[in-house]
Amino acid sequence: MQLAGKVAIITGAGAGIGQATARLFVQRGARVIATDLDEAGLAETRQGLGDDMIETLVSDATSVTDAAKAVALASDRFGGLHLLVNVVGGSRPGKTVVDLGEDEWDYWVRLNLTSTFLMCRAAIPAIDAAGGGAIVNIASGAGVTGMGRNPAYVAAKGGVIALTRSLAIDHAPTIRANCIAPGPILTPLMQRNRSEPEIAFMSKLSLVARLGKPEEIGATAAFLCSEDAAFINGELINVAGGRGGPI
Ligand SMILES: NC(=O)c1ccc[n+]([C@@H]2O[C@H](COP(=O)([O-])OP(=O)(O)OC[C@H]3O[C@@H](n4cnc5c(N)ncnc54)[C@H](O)[C@@H]3O)[C@@H](O)[C@H]2O)c1
Repeated sequence: MQLAGKVAIITGAGAGIGQATARLFVQRGARVIATDLDEAGLAETRQGLGDDMIETLVSDATSVTDAAKAVALASDRFGGLHLLVNVVGGSRPGKTVVDLGEDEWDYWVRLNLTSTFLMCRAAIPAIDAAGGGAIVNIASGAGVTGMGRNPAYVAAKGGVIALTRSLAIDHAPTIRANCIAPGPILTPLMQRNRSEPEIAFMSKLSLVARLGKPEEIGATAAFLCSEDAAFINGELINVAGGRGGPI
């Protein structure tokens, strides 16, 4: 019960990493507001968990009003807010900057970076009012090392890493802000973007010879939100199984 007594908002919680994180936070004692565009995905997320522990909200992570609604719901249902995990994001690789339209650039930057800003802006006053807490932002290894044919995603995730450092400085000591850079994780996003042979190839590149599991990112987020991480602030943690396998 690492997170007992805490209230968390988790975005992108209708599938993949966000869904696993929301379920794991509840299993570790937090009460969770799980947000996503996908109502069916959210229903799956709350399956088997008590109504007193999880509330879901169909919302668009790129909307200012929906960010405010999530924070209000945390207060109405669970009496306040301590933790925010910004998971929502995604990409569709395939173009270089030469082929990329401004609309596509704006879409991916808004989904990955602006959503994080909007949710932090809405949540920080509530976390302060509850006496402090923690923010975890999900970036990507792509934001650290780059990635071919995905420039808006790479730039946006690099921005998430830098934004996290800024949050850590501006909101210490009451709020800690840390960032996770997942390596390849087996989620619906991965299955949409990569073929089976590509997934098999990526598994071989990892020192643990497999892709990551969504709950392994959730467990790192839970640690960063817990008292065990009380002296960790403004950091980027790579959760990628180690790189540089046998091929
Ligand atoms: N899967 C990976 O290998 C991997 C690697 C590095 C980083 N990440 C990052 O982890 C995060 C989660 O990735 P995932 O693989 O679980 O993705 P996913 O596509 O499997 O799940 C993302 C969820 O976000 C929701 N969503 C999409 N747009 C939304 C919006 N505008 N508002 C609200 N909800 C919205 C979707 O409905 C879905 O439930 C993303 O930020 C992604 O960039 C993933």
